Amino acid sequence: MKKLSYIVLLCLANLLSFAQTNTLTLREDNIDEVINAMTNEEKVTLLVGARGALVPGAAGYTCEIERLGIPMTVLADGPAGLRIQPKREGTDETFYCTGFPTSTLLASSWDPDLMETVTTAMGNEVLEYGVDVLLAPGMNLHRNPLCGRNFEYYSEDPLLSGKMAAAYIRGIQKNGVGTSVKHFATNNQEINRLENDSRVSNRALRELYLKNFEIAVKEGKPWTVMSSYNKLNGDYTQQSKGLLTTVLRDEWGFDGIVMTDWGVKDNTVKSAKAGNDLMEWGNPVEYDRILAAVNSGEISQEELDRNVRNMLNYIVKTPHFRHYNYSNKPDLKAHAAVARKAAEESIILLKNQDRLLPLEDGCYKKVALYGVASVDFVGIGTGSGEVNTTHIANMQEAMTEAGFTLDEDLAEYYRQYVSQQQTIDKMEQSNRWKYRNIREEIAVSAKAIALQAKEDDVAIIVIGRNAGEGTDRTLKDDFELSATERELLQNVSTAFHALCKPVIVVLNIGGVIETTSWKHLADAIVLPWSPGQEGAYAVVDILTGKVNPSGKLPMTFTVNYMDIPSSKNFPYSWDMTKGRKGDRKNVDYTDYAEGIWVGYRYFLTNREVSYPFGYGLSYTTFDYSKPKVKADKDGFTATITVTNTGKMAGREVVELYVAAPDGGLEKPARELKAFAKTKLLAPGESETLTMKVSAYEMASFNEEHPAWETAEGNYQVLFGASSVDIRATASFRIGKAQSWPVKMIW
Ligand code: BGC
Repeated sequence: MKKLSYIVLLCLANLLSFAQTNTLTLREDNIDEVINAMTNEEKVTLLVGARGALVPGAAGYTCEIERLGIPMTVLADGPAGLRIQPKREGTDETFYCTGFPTSTLLASSWDPDLMETVTTAMGNEVLEYGVDVLLAPGMNLHRNPLCGRNFEYYSEDPLLSGKMAAAYIRGIQKNGVGTSVKHFATNNQEINRLENDSRVSNRALRELYLKNFEIAVKEGKPWTVMSSYNKLNGDYTQQSKGLLTTVLRDEWGFDGIVMTDWGVKDNTVKSAKAGNDLMEWGNPVEYDRILAAVNSGEISQEELDRNVRNMLNYIVKTPHFRHYNYSNKPDLKAHAAVARKAAEESIILLKNQDRLLPLEDGCYKKVALYGVASVDFVGIGTGSGEVNTTHIANMQEAMTEAGFTLDEDLAEYYRQYVSQQQTIDKMEQSNRWKYRNIREEIAVSAKAIALQAKEDDVAIIVIGRNAGEGTDRTLKDDFELSATERELLQNVSTAFHALCKPVIVVLNIGGVIETTSWKHLADAIVLPWSPGQEGAYAVVDILTGKVNPSGKLPMTFTVNYMDIPSSKNFPYSWDMTKGRKGDRKNVDYTDYAEGIWVGYRYFLTNREVSYPFGYGLSYTTFDYSKPKVKADKDGFTATITVTNTGKMAGREVVELYVAAPDGGLEKPARELKAFAKTKLLAPGESETLTMKVSAYEMASFNEEHPAWETAEGNYQVLFGASSVDIRATASFRIGKAQSWPVKMIW
């Protein structure tokens, strides 16, 4: 009897556990249990991207495992907005997204709060269109101005880049959707991006190329990181355990998933072992390789489970896991207003001779608007960073809407040319990667310009440059103006100036161009970069003074291209036929021989520039007073009072640079360590800004030991309106050197 009841009990228990296994579905609190219930085949499916159709135009998916309640999740591009297909078969409904300003323009705001507002709106579109992760922010440093993707990135400086990226992440993730910080790391050129080996010193890596990612990961806490295509010091980044596990997870505390950039590499097993959890966009060969390695023991059960656990921890956070009922109807109108405001707060005024701008009311009614980009305005860029918007406003529309009268013949001339070009593009365009890197300018005869100068009150020339992934920009006809552009500038300047009428240049560009040789021809230069779908309106708001410009340069505008140290090691005149595979300098490998001497770190003490890092004009003036620094055991707190001493309300960015004491490692003359932006200050109004810097943030990297080190001695704190325009200083002393040792990786 006893024996019988024991057997009954045992059966009951088995039945119960069978029922449990069968009803086991993923919850936030049962991840280990789910892992135990998974077969190795199921585990491996989770590590390889899937094909899906949930959101047409999304870049990728993760696998569903129905029996365990593990949903498919959706990954789609940014960074200037969500990139999905705007139209779908079988419905008249549309799925357009907002084209926000590009990253370079947002960085020019030097305003993390503004960034967070922008990406809070952007993240709402991600959520409402049924996407779980936005594949953004892109945040590789602007090592060289010709990198084709610089418009998707922020700055030459790691602090500005890191802080803006952290704000980007916070805004998106507030919506309960994720981000993917990319491309980790040293994807600083597009030419041969799949294979190029970035050869970088430990110091430059730590202080520059990893520093911005470190800040973004620690302060933004992204759900995911995307490893880059390229190699770093010999290993593909997706296969570098040092990068993905030792640095990213062990040192920086990252607890999300790492996914590859889109494609397949040999040695998937090495990627999985290195801590690259997810292979995107997913290929059956990757599944086979991982499973075979699990079966042979090359990938241990522990390693497999670690990656699967990361995946499940990610999945339980997603809207698809929560069964979020997305509307497909984000408020595009409200988001357009956010995009316009963001552009207004970020546009940079480079030149304003004799206070031409803002244009005096009523004096400049009739406008001669030149440049192909005045119609074919570059809102964003091409490649995966493109956004399918309902429209991109152009300068003709924006000027007309603001009440200006355009020289109609001239306007029509450009409209017709652009429409013809668009037809040619449509006929030729075989894939979305095609891009015209330059808005190929057309000539306007000197005779026509002379007549326009008589008729019109002011000339505005829009110079356009497009850019996109997969290729870098060129030196000739892109970084440098084309012959037609030069001629146009010269002729317009001569004709209009002869009649004492002003010339304004609008730089609608995705990356830095040469300005020294022609800037004297313009009375005012406005730099909106690629400012998104509403950017043209924002430019006009700046011209009319509806908005007072407050953007500042997130990088240096040099005099010549070859002044830039990295130009010696950048494929600016790439010729694929040169050299054998594996041997081509700057194509198969790129030496970052300039080390830490990137951007202003180099130019401050070495060469004249056209416009320095951190530079930007306002229609008002600001006074800096009462600089104070209070040191504490973890660094210092600085305060500075900014007063609007001009006649127009405006905002000012204060840049805090630190000059370290002599001795120890050789350092740049000063480095940006904090920044802050005032609210809109009315004339006469003041605001005291507070900035905190920790001792760790002041440290330099000693590659001998290796460790971060803050030297003992007197430090100078410089409050700048740009990297060269220092308005106030203070100092403090670090009594005892500090050191933060790390593991040697490269
Ligand atoms: C790009 C990534 C992008 C991915 C998915 C790749 O070619 O490098 O930035 O997220 O495609 O579209």
